Amino acid sequence: MRLRLGILLFAASLLPAQTPDFTGVWKADVAKSKFAGPAPSSELMIMDQKGAMLKITSGVTDHHGEYRSSVAYNTTGIESKNEYHGLPMKSRARLDGDTLSIDSQVAGERPTSITQKYTLSSGGKTLELESTANMNGKERAETVVFERQPNEAGDPLRQPEQTAGEHFKNVQVLKTLPASRFIDTMHYFTASLGVKCEKCHVEGHFDSDDKKEKKTARDMLKMVANIDEHNFKGHPKVQCFTCHRGAEKPLAAPPFAMPGVATASAAAK
Ligand code: HEC
Ligand code: HEC
Repeated sequence: MRLRLGILLFAASLLPAQTPDFTGVWKADVAKSKFAGPAPSSELMIMDQKGAMLKITSGVTDHHGEYRSSVAYNTTGIESKNEYHGLPMKSRARLDGDTLSIDSQVAGERPTSITQKYTLSSGGKTLELESTANMNGKERAETVVFERQPNEAGDPLRQPEQTAGEHFKNVQVLKTLPASRFIDTMHYFTASLGVKCEKCHVEGHFDSDDKKEKKTARDMLKMVANIDEHNFKGHPKVQCFTCHRGAEKPLAAPPFAMPGVATASAAAK
């Protein structure tokens, strides 16, 4: 009997003192929030907490339209893998009382780390998100105050998102991608080739086809789809980074060693 009680007490001590419930629909109070850039016109978030897993779907609407993202964290500190604007992100999330802290790192040449702290207050009606992103030594901090909403308020986020073909003017290859995934793909292009958006786009006219690099990129998209379909059963094994590795022109052979330069990709620059 004493042993069994001991086991029960031990099991209870493994549970957090109290598990806050983040599950629900949350809407940003734009006036009470402090955004790092221009304030969005609306920000909606659906949180779904099941055991240790917390899934967050969010939709931010600004003058470009809606941008959605979806992430899932293990809240016991085990590493979780997600994507941040088209690049791999690894995170550790931990619950402490009414606070969830998430530390994330985004892959890429420009080191990016993000810390986020969600705090539940006013009897679970308000959720405050403080986040700091450090990109290449530059810091951006923001605080977003969310108010709990009735479940139906989340319906717009449960509808399928517009496709890139519907949302943009001149998309020919990636028509069926959801619009947010399309923009993530653009960020992935820039990181994979080590370029800025303007390498392929006339500034301010993303629909224009005037830059030859944009047309080359379309051909590359078809080439990549073709390689994966015919060699890897349609799995996306070969992508832009596979060849480009952060350089505009991939190398076809190992380069000559340069004094003081250790890696092939560094030598390619
Ligand atoms: C390597 C070349 C390349 C880079 C770099 C690139 N794009 Fe693109 N972008 C394209 C291509 C190709 C298309 C058309 C895709 C298609 O037809 O399916 C496109 C289309 C777009 C469109 C749709 C415009 C319209 O209305 O038709 C937007 C918006 C866009 N890009 C934004 C960006 C942003 C923002 C960046 C930088 C973060 C970026 N792109 C970087 C190649 C690039
Ligand atoms: C199988 C290898 C491979 C893959 C995968 C690949 N590329 Fe390329 N890419 C090349 C080669 C090779 C060149 C030509 C370099 C040269 O002209 O010397 C090139 C050139 C380009 C150029 C022109 C660069 C310039 O400055 O002229 C763009 C833009 C480009 N690729 C975009 C992409 C995009 C976007 C993807 C992913 C959808 C991609 N590539 C995937 C091999 C690849």
